Amino acid sequence: MKRNFLMGAAALASLATLSACGGNKAEQAPAATETAAAAAPAAAPEPAAGAKVEFASFTTDVAAGEKVFALCRSCHVLDEGVNRVGPSLYNVVGRASGSVAGFSYSDANKSSGVTWSEDVLFEYLKDPKGFMPGTKMTFPGIKDDQDRANLVAYLASTKK
Ligand code: HEC
Repeated sequence: MKRNFLMGAAALASLATLSACGGNKAEQAPAATETAAAAAPAAAPEPAAGAKVEFASFTTDVAAGEKVFALCRSCHVLDEGVNRVGPSLYNVVGRASGSVAGFSYSDANKSSGVTWSEDVLFEYLKDPKGFMPGTKMTFPGIKDDQDRANLVAYLASTKK
């Protein structure tokens, strides 16, 4: 009986040691959480301040967009197979980049792997060289979001 009691006491003592360890872990936990919280904003893909403007959030005006297309006409036409300084923009919405036959693209454009969806065009046309470093399209971009959205809507409307 006495031995059993001693063994019991030893067991209790080791339990106390275990819970003491648990206590230490509990004390460390908040510090670990704070570290994770501090790391979170840096890991987030987009800080709130740089929130992206989406093409879909605009009400577009196709007629106004046709006027904006004047900025492109010096280098592009919408006729199929007619390349000028830039490739034909016939059916450009939904087209794979670098896919117009007979146009000599830069490597950047040819191998970008981009599909010219409305969303992608909306982003690209804001800052072509920023979006596609190495492109030989020397066009500074259209910074006004509404003008750009109208232009993209116009391009989409020309799709046959
Ligand atoms: C100064 C001439 C110039 C102007 C102005 C210009 N572009 Fe371009 N664009 C080019 C050239 C050159 C390329 C080919 C780029 C390359 O190969 O790197 C191109 C490529 C493109 C492409 C990629 C086509 C493909 O087949 O992958 C799109 C889309 C485009 N332009 C749209 C426009 C739009 C819309 C405008 C008007 C807002 C415009 N560009 C204004 C010269 C121009």
